[in-house]
Amino acid sequence: MKTIEPQQLLEQLNWRYATKQFDAGRKIPADQWAAIEEALVLSPSSLGLQAWAFVVVQDPAVREELKAASYGQSQITDASHLVVFTARTDVTPSDVDQYMDRIAKVRGVSPDSLAGFRGMIEGSVLQARDTAGRAAWTSRQVYIPLGVLLTSAALMGLDACPMEGFDPAAYDRILGLAEKGLTAVAVATVGYRSTEDGYAALPKVRYAKQDVVLHV
Ligand SMILES: Cc1cc2nc3c(=O)[nH]c(=O)nc-3n(C[C@H](O)[C@H](O)[C@H](O)COP(=O)(O)O)c2cc1C
Repeated sequence: MKTIEPQQLLEQLNWRYATKQFDAGRKIPADQWAAIEEALVLSPSSLGLQAWAFVVVQDPAVREELKAASYGQSQITDASHLVVFTARTDVTPSDVDQYMDRIAKVRGVSPDSLAGFRGMIEGSVLQARDTAGRAAWTSRQVYIPLGVLLTSAALMGLDACPMEGFDPAAYDRILGLAEKGLTAVAVATVGYRSTEDGYAALPKVRYAKQDVVLHV
């Protein structure tokens, strides 16, 4: 197994920053972008349920509309790639069926052998939470792939900006998400920093490790 050294990891995490200004002329090569999409798919989720979809928006006209719904933030149109992290607005018994079918197919087991697991999902997701509780739960899940993307991009030398500064209802309308049972939660813009972006040189503002990493 090929691993990276701790120092290399920290160098890349110190190198990354929430990019404010992208170089609009530079595009991420297809093989690197394909790896980012694969990294999103590989993200872990609670119970493995994957109650999400990642919407990659490359249409410039749609990106202009999204920018207007994002307080005019230039990253939305200037970054090479844009991903909208969406969560399922609800989890239904048919979603659980679909997940069970997928496990049965991938692992070559009978759906009946998954009855115990299905019961656990039904109890903890469908019965123990109401619709609003489930929506809050699925929304939280998408921050994991967002984090995976940020770290993966940094390790590949790609710049990114995580973004919550947008109007989710407008995104849902522009991207037709409601009819797909999805809602926009967060955005990541990915590409290459502009040499004009002064934020790149600012020291990171973080609390001291001993104040946030507690050892018991
Ligand atoms: C969930 C989330 C939402 C954010 N939303 C925005 C945003 O809308 N626009 C922006 O420029 N930066 C946004 N940021 C970037 C943060 O301000 C930035 O990550 C933080 O100040 C730490 O700085 P650094 O990432 O450069 O180290 C967001 C970050 C996170 C994690």
